[in-house]
Amino acid sequence: MGFLKTCVLRRNACTAVCFWRRQFIQKPSVRKISTTSPRSTVMPAWVIDKYGSNEVLRFTQNMMIPMIHYPNEVIIKVHAASINPIDVNMRSGYGATALNMKRDPLHIKIKGEEFPLTLGRDVSGVVMECGLDVRYFKPGDEVSHKPKSLTHGQAASLPYVALTAWSAINKIGGLNDKNCAGKRVLILGASGGVGTFAIQVMKAWDAHVTAVCSQDASELVRKLGADDVIDYKSGNMEEQLKYLKPFDFILDSVGGSTETWALNFLKKWSGATYVTLVTPFLLNMDRLGIADGMLQTGVTVGSKTLKHFWQGVHYRWAFFMASGPYLDDIAELVDAGKIQPVIEKTFPFSKVPEAFLKVERGHARGKTVVSVV
Ligand SMILES: NC(=O)c1ccc[n+]([C@@H]2O[C@H](COP(=O)([O-])OP(=O)(O)OC[C@H]3O[C@@H](n4cnc5c(N)ncnc54)[C@H](OP(=O)(O)O)[C@@H]3O)[C@@H](O)[C@H]2O)c1
Repeated sequence: MGFLKTCVLRRNACTAVCFWRRQFIQKPSVRKISTTSPRSTVMPAWVIDKYGSNEVLRFTQNMMIPMIHYPNEVIIKVHAASINPIDVNMRSGYGATALNMKRDPLHIKIKGEEFPLTLGRDVSGVVMECGLDVRYFKPGDEVSHKPKSLTHGQAASLPYVALTAWSAINKIGGLNDKNCAGKRVLILGASGGVGTFAIQVMKAWDAHVTAVCSQDASELVRKLGADDVIDYKSGNMEEQLKYLKPFDFILDSVGGSTETWALNFLKKWSGATYVTLVTPFLLNMDRLGIADGMLQTGVTVGSKTLKHFWQGVHYRWAFFMASGPYLDDIAELVDAGKIQPVIEKTFPFSKVPEAFLKVERGHARGKTVVSVV
């Protein structure tokens, strides 16, 4: 998302709340080549100067417009952005350890030097400038590459949730358009950003989808193609599920206590898989530091995987995975009319804090978008 007005972006990722943004097209190389002379102009942006509650969001007119630093980067003029729960969590400091390590792998910077920090990850916009090694994009392209049938607002609602669902379903779950027909899929958290996308991919691949959501979202998830809908508030989940046939695949975007019962509803000894998106990975790093946090994460996921393996089912964690080729596959499904963006509300750029509050309150019915241009 971009809460700046431009951004620098990578071919296999996208991000921030800004007007301009820089993105790497491939892994940055050491060579420093720019197609442009340094800029001296500034742009409006929403930034934070410390982690905290929504009050830390600050509007500035004076954020430097980013420059191309590496030959594999492009500058994007951001037209729209969308907000994900992780952006709200990161405003409060969640994941700061991992994020700072990514920005500064050698730990040269001292704590707090990430500020002023622009939050966000999903953007749609137009390529303004390209580094000299960039082949896949050219100035004027709508990125990344935007499905032709969508507006920028609709396109900005997709990348993070779509790539997360794709990672869970395809990369980790092993499901694809060829092996899904008739498979029974259970989606927990079906009414949110990830869930509303996941239902549609699974239906595009001919799976049978059972969606779990609140009662007031049942019409929405049915419209998106869900075959069966379960209202998790109307009674005990295990009682409701035990009358259904067991599942081949469960996507869990709720977490917490779901892990204690959901795997009981998978087919045993048939390769059936439970994939959760709610993991303690970043929290462990925040609490224990990078090395101990990763160790703790490895021990936790390893022991759970083994425990369930002996019970005849697969237990997996999935994470957002930046991928240009996956985005292209997703854009094809969108342009073929098989997936539609689900936007609950669009806020103007001046109302970014209200958009954050909306996402923070929960109960999403699809995505929250910020219109930048
Ligand atoms: N691992 C990763 O890389 C990764 C990437 C993206 C997202 N995530 C995580 O995945 C989760 C979902 O993300 P999202 O973007 O889809 O969030 P979201 O847009 O906020 O959606 C969450 C949805 O779950 C529903 N819900 C809450 N409790 C539920 C329950 N017990 N059973 C069924 N539905 C329930 C909510 O509606 P109601 O409360 O009204 O029912 C809401 O519609 C978040 O925890 C996020 O942090 C992880």
